Amino acid sequence: LGQKVHIYDEVDSTQTIAHKLVAAGALEGTIVLAEKQTAGRGRMGRSWHSPSGKGIWMSLILTPRIPVYFMPQLTLLSAVALCRAIQKVCHVEIGIKWPNDLLIHGKKVSGILLESSGEDERLKYVIAGIGISVNLLTEDYPEELRAVATSLAIESGIEVSRESLVQAFLLEFEEMYALYLEKGFAPIRLLWEALSVTLKRPIRTTTPTGVIEGFADSLDDSGALTVISPTGERIKIYSGDVELR
Ligand code: BTN
Repeated sequence: LGQKVHIYDEVDSTQTIAHKLVAAGALEGTIVLAEKQTAGRGRMGRSWHSPSGKGIWMSLILTPRIPVYFMPQLTLLSAVALCRAIQKVCHVEIGIKWPNDLLIHGKKVSGILLESSGEDERLKYVIAGIGISVNLLTEDYPEELRAVATSLAIESGIEVSRESLVQAFLLEFEEMYALYLEKGFAPIRLLWEALSVTLKRPIRTTTPTGVIEGFADSLDDSGALTVISPTGERIKIYSGDVELR
């Protein structure tokens, strides 16, 4: 991974650039990095705060020949790789909130957005968008984000090298991806579970059919979250946001 790296000063979104690069024939492992995004995208149609020079705003092109419905597994895999990289470089206590938010002291420090294009039942390509708030200070956040978002610098008290972190992430990702392509999701699932701050906790989640409150019990083979409701019903959550209670 990372044999070809495209670095930009300012883009709307590294995701958009990566999609265009695929259309122009870019290969698996191609990376797009930008100092600043003017229209960074988050999950569920949200925007992603991406100020200049303070974070890692990156998109990684992947072309795994796996069924489209395995996409959530890749999302969880990315979170594991990112979590391990941050632990190695920053020595902070960090955990994963399902499916792929990285939290330090309950605040979000990093997010992952996977966008794909499929053909028949197989994925044609996936763009893994990684946002890490590395050296942002409190004043770099708009007021409304300060209670819910943090950065590696704020949490560790030191400035963190973005180069070291990108390298560490690519190494971890390569290792996890090779493991996944060889052995399937089972070993990744174990690693994810060990890093999770969601499992075995009471949670609340809003789904298209309403609010579900319950106990987050386990991950299934597809990467869905199994929640046990107060009446003992087992409910699977495939997408959405989870709130820890
Ligand atoms: C989320 O938690 O909602 C996902 C955030 C993903 C942000 C990254 S930054 C690099 C890439 N380009 C984007 O526009 N979004 C992703």
